[in-house]
Amino acid sequence: MSKAITLQEFIMDTQAQFPFVSGQLTRLLTDIGVAAKIVNHQVNRAGLAGILGASGSQNTHDEDQQKLDVFADRTFMRILTAGKSVAGIGSEEQKDYILCGDDGRQGKYVVMIDPLDGSSNIDVNVSIGTIFSIYRRTTPLGEPLNDEDFLQPGSDQVVAGYIHYGSSTMLVYTTGSGVNGFTLDPAVGEFFLSHPRMAFPEAGTIYSINDALIDSSPEAVKRFIVGCREATGAGLKARYIGSLVTDFHRNLIKGGIYLYPSTTSNSQGKLRLTYECNPLAFIAQQAGGTAEDNAGDILTKQPKHLHERSPFYVGSVNMVHGLRSCWLDTEKSG
Ligand code: AHG
Ligand code: MN
Ligand code: MN
Repeated sequence: MSKAITLQEFIMDTQAQFPFVSGQLTRLLTDIGVAAKIVNHQVNRAGLAGILGASGSQNTHDEDQQKLDVFADRTFMRILTAGKSVAGIGSEEQKDYILCGDDGRQGKYVVMIDPLDGSSNIDVNVSIGTIFSIYRRTTPLGEPLNDEDFLQPGSDQVVAGYIHYGSSTMLVYTTGSGVNGFTLDPAVGEFFLSHPRMAFPEAGTIYSINDALIDSSPEAVKRFIVGCREATGAGLKARYIGSLVTDFHRNLIKGGIYLYPSTTSNSQGKLRLTYECNPLAFIAQQAGGTAEDNAGDILTKQPKHLHERSPFYVGSVNMVHGLRSCWLDTEKSG
């Protein structure tokens, strides 16, 4: 039997293969792995540790922060700011971006993070996640960071990943040369490579959308869903957990599309471009899938502010392109 590869070994091997992967990035990825284990520990014992439920505060989106939202945010902030590789962090749970060290003068990288995704599922013991994204700073080292460092298009991501606290805990990430998944062995507290070179199956069959949004979504989305429903005889099926990471992870393994559309009341949908959509779009692209907003490729979209929302359609190419055809059809029929 060959020896199992740990996350740490994999990160080091990647650095050796790609000279552009710096020591700072290696350190940063290692730190994310450590923070993931700490958050995982709290997620696993949340019902016992008195950290289920609301924290009593709200985040910048006026959403009630759960205690685990706050814990996860603090944990990633603490570990990433201590690591010296990160100049600044944009988090769902913080109104403004955080500058590390001396106004972000040091550290080559900028991190965007949704520390705890799927908050509404915490109290009912349903899978949740963390989503992260890493960019190179755009301002020169030694100067303070500015807005531009945090508003880079998704196509400039250096690393994107997520942690999935599911029936087992997985860390899945890409550095731009494929996607690899690692499963946490709780007995030894180590992530091991379990899903090398993850790729969407050629033909997706799952569609994931909050059914309550369909009637108020754009005509193209309605048409696409009607088409999916008509194809259930051919194997299509609906699955929706309500935790983006979980829905994305399942569709990556089984093949499918996740949709969070614009609606009549929310013209930009609900999901946030910089720390929810773009990281998963980059992973999807690296796994042979694709991601769009209402207009097309989401990775080329220029973010205008940190907490910007965007409609989001991500997954297997055949299904995302099927949706694109519906946009073209609806445009033609006026
Ligand atoms: P978060 O918990 O980070 O605020 O994200 C919640 C998101 C996402 O995880 C999920 O896909 C979506 O909200 C579900 O929204 P609906 O309840 O409107 O379907
Ligand atoms: Mn989220
Ligand atoms: Mn969140």
